[in-house]
Amino acid sequence: MKKIAIMGSGNGSNFEAIVKYFAQKPEMEVDITCLTDDVNAYILTRAKNLGVKYKYLPFEQNGAYFAVNNFDLIVLAGYMRILPEDVLNLGKFINIHPSLLPAFKGKDAIHRAFDAGVKVSGVTIHHVTSDLDGGKIIAQYPVLIGNLTHFDEFEAEIHNLEHKLYPIVIEKLLKDEVFDFSDLLGGCSGNCSGCH
Ligand code: GRF
Repeated sequence: MKKIAIMGSGNGSNFEAIVKYFAQKPEMEVDITCLTDDVNAYILTRAKNLGVKYKYLPFEQNGAYFAVNNFDLIVLAGYMRILPEDVLNLGKFINIHPSLLPAFKGKDAIHRAFDAGVKVSGVTIHHVTSDLDGGKIIAQYPVLIGNLTHFDEFEAEIHNLEHKLYPIVIEKLLKDEVFDFSDLLGGCSGNCSGCH
């Protein structure tokens, strides 16, 4: 049994995607706890609807909580505060960010990338340090932005990609396996003629 905590401050769509992914893999036996620092966050409603354990955990109580609650992985998904080193030393923390880091760190990255006119953006999953969106990169996947792409299409593509990429990378980390692009492309064995 692997224990993960998912920490979010808002909408919780990544949380829901992760829960649904592991619900389809009962052989993995992943025990999920939802943690939020905002009692009004929609992620709490999702946790209740999905039947997942949840807890309101004020930012100041993170240290005391993680000192006595051990997780194999602590997954940040829209968690809006920067965790200090003393908390980060209490577990293995990862985060998802909606840009190709190190470009467009911080809030509103999807808008800022689009407004800058970049032609390739994407999604990054990285280790968490106290340096905002600055930890070592674990996985990245690109999204192309055509000159006729509307912002809403681009934003939807980023979120769809997040929901696909994050659960796979979490699974790989829990199994101590290396993430590879082919994992996202449907587990291509390399034996077909389609992509060669
Ligand atoms: C995602 O875009 C994630 O990359 C960023 O915050 C957003 C969280 O969305 N860190 P949600 O709460 O999972 O819907």
